[in-house]
Amino acid sequence: MSLSEEYYKRSLNVCPGGVHSPVRSYKAVGGTPVFFKEGRGAHLTSVENESYIDFCQSFGPLILGHRDPEVEEAVLSQIGSLWTSGTCEAYSLELGEWIIEHVPAVEKLRFVSSGTEAVMSALRVARAVTKRDKVLKFEGCYHGHVDSLLVEAGSGLAGVSASSSAGVSSIQASQTLVCPLNDKEAYLKILEENKDDIAAVIIEPLPANFGLIELDHEYLKFVVDEAQKRCALVIFDEVISGFRAALGGMAEVLNIKPDLVTYGKVMGGGFPVGCYGGRKEFMDLVAPVGPVYQAGTLSANPVGMVAGLTTLKKAKRENIWKTFTERSKMMSEDFNSWSKSEGLKKRMHTFGSLFWICETEIGKLNSIKDIPKDHGEKFKSFFKSLLDQKLYLAPNGYEVGFLGLAHTEEVLKESLDIFKKACKETSS
Ligand SMILES: Cc1ncc(COP(=O)(O)O)c(C=O)c1O
Repeated sequence: MSLSEEYYKRSLNVCPGGVHSPVRSYKAVGGTPVFFKEGRGAHLTSVENESYIDFCQSFGPLILGHRDPEVEEAVLSQIGSLWTSGTCEAYSLELGEWIIEHVPAVEKLRFVSSGTEAVMSALRVARAVTKRDKVLKFEGCYHGHVDSLLVEAGSGLAGVSASSSAGVSSIQASQTLVCPLNDKEAYLKILEENKDDIAAVIIEPLPANFGLIELDHEYLKFVVDEAQKRCALVIFDEVISGFRAALGGMAEVLNIKPDLVTYGKVMGGGFPVGCYGGRKEFMDLVAPVGPVYQAGTLSANPVGMVAGLTTLKKAKRENIWKTFTERSKMMSEDFNSWSKSEGLKKRMHTFGSLFWICETEIGKLNSIKDIPKDHGEKFKSFFKSLLDQKLYLAPNGYEVGFLGLAHTEEVLKESLDIFKKACKETSS
């Protein structure tokens, strides 16, 4: 029995499915999870001392790679002075000022400890602003495990919503309306039928939780305008895209200013940090200024603040977004032309530092309907082949791959060879 197998067996007695977040489980791909003990740059080292090229990157936070030396130094120095205090301190002030200075969508913000908390709090603000209860979300967009958002479309466009998790009360589920992406007609119908009840329209402006979907600017502008016309707030959930798609996230790429925005992942530099922010008058409804209560014992913990600020400053200094665009273009062009020349169907879709591989002839996916139904099933053997070749993707075919700055051209070329081999081995 390998060490990973031994740990996995023990873990099954400790936590549900042996994991502390279901996305880490190998339920969708089969087999025993590899246990890792160390990360550096683009690589993870398993407990068996094997080195893997890592494109999971902790599901997105590690935009510079594992243990970037600059961030590591800042974190170690911070650990030598203050971990957490529950008092006012200047670390969160510095990160907060930096974000407000660089991100036009954020006039005021509040730090929390996860993306889920950020979304949950933004919704509370939206409900307080509008004095309405309902929220409209889009099919295939994930917004954390907030009760009311663990919902998928029920029968009928504006009909009853059914929860996709047990334990969510039907009252909460009924407050959420689910709309297909890229369907203007369905969107207008739901808005009209609920026009006095919708507090917020929440969307991942770059949907990256069910493959990688690229929405047109014109469609997103339409979504925003039609919501605001009916006095519903627009929340951009930029937990993945924030500071990753561009310094100012998709709000900057699209030149659209949402009413509220949520962040997590990259902004904590690998530590548990999230934030919600937006228009000053809305954020001033939050306690202790206003009546919206929201609090957190470890909110804005100094280690996360310093890791986040060091990460963002380095990202800006090195203009990592330009590098990502060049590298992912090189990677996808190489892979796609090879795949076509081999008569294979797999294509690599990219947006900056995000990539996703699936069997489709479509150049740009703009709806989850574009994803082949058997994608998840076909991913199993692809994942296994990659893992055997020591390349780690998240163990679910609908998760995107993340590039970090540590994925140099050399690492990407090595990865391309592995992707091609896996593709050839597993194509029917
Ligand atoms: C778009 C989006 N929103 C919210 C969340 C929830 O963030 P967290 O896992 O930090 O609670 C995620 C997590 O993947 C996400 O991708």
